[in-house]
Amino acid sequence: MPAKIIDGKKVAEKFLNEVNKKIKESKEKPGLAIVLAGNNPASEIYVNFKEKKAKEVGLYFERYNLEENVSQNELLKLIDNLNQSRKIHGMIVQLPLPKHIDEKLVVDAILPHKDADGFTPVNLGNLVNDDNRLVPATARACLELIKSTGEKIEGKNTVVVGRSTIVGKPVALLLLQENATVTICHSKTKNLAEFTKNADILVVAVGKPKLIKKDMVKKGAIVIDVGINKTPSGIIGDVDFENVKEVAGYITPVPGGVGPMTIAMLLDNTLNAMEMGRGFLR
Ligand code: GUN
Repeated sequence: MPAKIIDGKKVAEKFLNEVNKKIKESKEKPGLAIVLAGNNPASEIYVNFKEKKAKEVGLYFERYNLEENVSQNELLKLIDNLNQSRKIHGMIVQLPLPKHIDEKLVVDAILPHKDADGFTPVNLGNLVNDDNRLVPATARACLELIKSTGEKIEGKNTVVVGRSTIVGKPVALLLLQENATVTICHSKTKNLAEFTKNADILVVAVGKPKLIKKDMVKKGAIVIDVGINKTPSGIIGDVDFENVKEVAGYITPVPGGVGPMTIAMLLDNTLNAMEMGRGFLR
């Protein structure tokens, strides 16, 4: 039997409705700022989606488009202003940044309680400590999509392919919190298929089109494809969807899987940021 397709848009809609409800009930209007530096076409598309959804759910929204040659100091000054803004509760700086800018320095300048992406050392450290107030949105998206299947996670062999700070590492930590047995594979892993074939749950986030083939997937596995790869034939994931769906139990499509859920999680994070910021002088 072919895999059940996990409809990311549908799962996201449920979370977006919740976010919308919480915003309506909130005394203070939560505010999100997005900073986009340079002209990376993919980043522009992602930010446009984030802006559209942020406005739809009723967040206060500010967007800053900076030139490719913006100086690091100008960017840091903007972050400082947003750190101090009373209207802004959460911000994100879209990555990657132009090459002359030190990405880590910029991310670290965001106040932890305004870090809607959960990328600052404080929030990543909190996650290691099982404090999930601000967790990277894509990692949260993967976990929620797995949960949406209704299948048990505890005790399952789970393989995460990719070890990025944004996705691979945080999703591994979230799955560990759920008592899964977690293996992280990466570009230096020998015999990748030997690991993936044993995975009851497989999360792939490496940015390599169709890396995961049908014969690398266990029958009935839950397969979460984080990849967004632009190819001449359109946007495709890291999983060979058409063939893998013949063996998997559940699979996310690209597009329409992790992407829409990531945006929903980011907007929900903005509410968490507002909560985390209570008591701080803004
Ligand atoms: N670039 C790719 N994914 C992300 C994300 O989730 N947040 C930010 N800020 N940049 C990204």
